Amino acid sequence: MDAYADSYAASLKDPQRFWLDAAHAVTWSRTPRRALDDSRPPFYRWFPDGELNTCYNALDRHVEAGHGERPALRYDSPVTGATAAYTYAELRDEVARFAGVLRDQGVGKGDRVVVYMPMIPQAVVAMLACARLGAVHSVVFGGFAPRELAARITDAAPKILVTASCGIEPGRVIAYKPIVDEAIAASDHPPTSVVVLQRERLRADLGPRDHDWDALMANARPAPCVDVAATDPLYVLYTSGTTGRPKGVVRDNGGHAVALTWSMKNIYDIGPGDVWWSASDVGWVVGHSYIVYGPLLVGATTVLYEGKPVGTPDAGAFWRVISQYGVKALFTAPTGIRAIKRLDPQGGEVAKYDLSGFTALFLAGERLDPETYRWASSILGVPVVDHWWQTETGWAVAANPRGLQELPIKPGSPTVPMPGYDVEILSPSGEVLPPRTEGAICLRLPLPPGTLLTLWGDDDRYVESYLSRFPGHYSTGDGGYIDEDGYLFVMGRTDDVINVAGHRLSTGSMEAVLGEHPAVAECAVIGVHDALKGQVPHGLVVLKAGADVEPDTLRAELVAAVRRDIGPVAAFKEVSIVDALPKTRSGKILRKSLRAIADGRVEPTPSTIEDPGVLDVLRRVLAPPPTN
Ligand code: COA
Ligand code: AMP
Repeated sequence: MDAYADSYAASLKDPQRFWLDAAHAVTWSRTPRRALDDSRPPFYRWFPDGELNTCYNALDRHVEAGHGERPALRYDSPVTGATAAYTYAELRDEVARFAGVLRDQGVGKGDRVVVYMPMIPQAVVAMLACARLGAVHSVVFGGFAPRELAARITDAAPKILVTASCGIEPGRVIAYKPIVDEAIAASDHPPTSVVVLQRERLRADLGPRDHDWDALMANARPAPCVDVAATDPLYVLYTSGTTGRPKGVVRDNGGHAVALTWSMKNIYDIGPGDVWWSASDVGWVVGHSYIVYGPLLVGATTVLYEGKPVGTPDAGAFWRVISQYGVKALFTAPTGIRAIKRLDPQGGEVAKYDLSGFTALFLAGERLDPETYRWASSILGVPVVDHWWQTETGWAVAANPRGLQELPIKPGSPTVPMPGYDVEILSPSGEVLPPRTEGAICLRLPLPPGTLLTLWGDDDRYVESYLSRFPGHYSTGDGGYIDEDGYLFVMGRTDDVINVAGHRLSTGSMEAVLGEHPAVAECAVIGVHDALKGQVPHGLVVLKAGADVEPDTLRAELVAAVRRDIGPVAAFKEVSIVDALPKTRSGKILRKSLRAIADGRVEPTPSTIEDPGVLDVLRRVLAPPPTN
């Protein structure tokens, strides 16, 4: 029996039946009779007549089914030394009370709530409380600076913002409250109030708009789940696009619950009672789908880890967590594994822990280089499973569906398309390319449940960004090919998005910051290969004629400006001053050529880059990635 091939074929042949079948795993307050609504292409909707509550599905129904004492969440924070555990009943009660807090603050169905929090249980509580009320959360990653937070607040126009007094990074405590205050002051749609969770490490001063989380919770009355349409938005998550303006990816309730439930069982092989750990951050899509919603929807235990893979306290930190909590499978980014390998190249730390219950390591977020794949496989002795997806898709486009049918692994490939994803490789003129020919990775419309509905408040930008380049298709922005066995190979982005330590960043927004410096005439930022982070940004700047500035001072100012305006997560540390940037005849900077050189796809020669100054810099800084 070929379970994968059968499922995949069924999903494309009769999507209505395939996804209505999958929808049985979700509890509906109004059961959908239809799966796909294709009456308004290219805006497709899933389960148009269904109603449900996502928080009810993640928490209450497990308690009602008698599993209230099962652990729902285990918090482990090496940066503070704290641990905590919540059963399903405890988490449901906490979420219901915080939903009551939000309701008392005027939050109702459809209202937005921005969540700017570190990796603490209250971040999960805040997200689920929004879902409980039918409100729309928008979580912003803590490594973003006030300006980035302000742009998201302006776009989402939240009623309330929920934050904590601080985040904790190795070696420093980050005061969140001043970041929030600055962002609110700079935004066009400030929230009416801010709820602040006070952490002992650094308490925040509260102003007239601010409320103390604990004080509000002490008097809170629990709020019940509010039924919403399956097609109503559950959250908006901003992600980097080609320009500096972030894109607000909109996720629905029904399609999301169905797709994530399907994925937990069939891709990750995780079900009720299993312990699952996704070492990411709630600020990224991986955190939304696989720290919060996916594992709770299926009644598993999710591990919430506030720390790094290494240095907290050592290279065995991940293996300690796996053995301590009996983790069945871990999901992280390859960069995390490379960080461990760097500190413990022989993998000696693994032997110190009992990993007998550990069955698989899932990796995504950036390309899994074969060396990291081989190393992780050999030290762990379990399948190391690459899979490929994006913020927009919400769950894997291509994966090895271990729970459905384990397929042979081919290093370098995130494996085969998942049900509902009709993957095609297109030439620049839109022709479908034969096997092993590289082109644009596109998905034929409609996309399956769980994928983005649109961009928040901007249908036109949604169509223009993803659907207009290849009509009838969603354009992923990644290039790659499919081999003769149907395995997908992803070669990297074909636009101005880069991937730094598994974090998606826009070079356009960094260029905007550099361009604001009074001495800079023009600039380009490109992703350069980095052995640990996969890619790091490198700025190339041309000075204005007569600019009187000392190069080291300028470089330091530019690095500081990107950190101040975008945030430390940009990891922007390198700037080269050049005489000119390569341009087309019409004067446009040849970013595509620079990118091709940075990726090692094109040699920097006088025929590709005419200006000798740039050529020298490129030869010096752009060590091409290894080809293994
Ligand atoms: N709040 C504030 N600052 C943050 C932050 C947060 N939530 N997250 C990261 N930063 C800071 C870091 O402290 C660092 O600051 P520095 O320049 O002062 O050192 C900077 O942003 C860059 O962070 P990062 O790129 O993560 O580098 P790192 O050296 O701190 O850690 C790794 C590198 C590889 C260990 C880490 O990125 C990692 O564990 N990645 C794997 C998991 C993952 O994050 N996946 C994401 C999607 S699946
Ligand atoms: P994000 O939206 O932050 O999840 O980033 C999505 C992008 O990360 C994709 O478009 C890819 O460029 C890259 N990516 C994610 N997973 C993989 C993978 N398994 N292999 C190669 N690239 C990946």
